[in-house]
Amino acid sequence: MRDLVEAAKSARARAHAPYSRFFVGAAMRDELGRVHAGGNIENAAYPQGWCAEPSAISHLVMAGGTRITEVVVMGNGDTLCTPCGGCRQKIREFAAGDVKIHCCTEHGDLIRTFTLDELLPHSFGPENLK
Ligand code: THU
Repeated sequence: MRDLVEAAKSARARAHAPYSRFFVGAAMRDELGRVHAGGNIENAAYPQGWCAEPSAISHLVMAGGTRITEVVVMGNGDTLCTPCGGCRQKIREFAAGDVKIHCCTEHGDLIRTFTLDELLPHSFGPENLK
């Protein structure tokens, strides 16, 4: 998990969040063990900004990854920063319900670990469309 934490910290340092000043870093492991990270990127037209998690997912998919196997998220300070509702669904597209989502302080200390199923129970996913 240490590699994910370090990647999330680096991504958080590059987040573009001049409006909320709430800097988020996310890092995700793919099925090959590779780590992909991203930060939130806000926009002067506020609704056009996006979260850290889709930044990381975008890197994972564009690197050829197809599955998310572990996630680290960190926000400001030591407040618990879980993925928002929309991000939970975006993670769901590529992750099984037992995938661990580690929520850390901005310094990388673990606050709490959830499974995706805990954060998004009874979810709708790709299987529903088969
Ligand atoms: N944010 C994320 O990047 N991920 C989340 O799951 C929660 C919220 C960002 C969006 C916005 O740039 C800032 O945090 C404040 O909401």
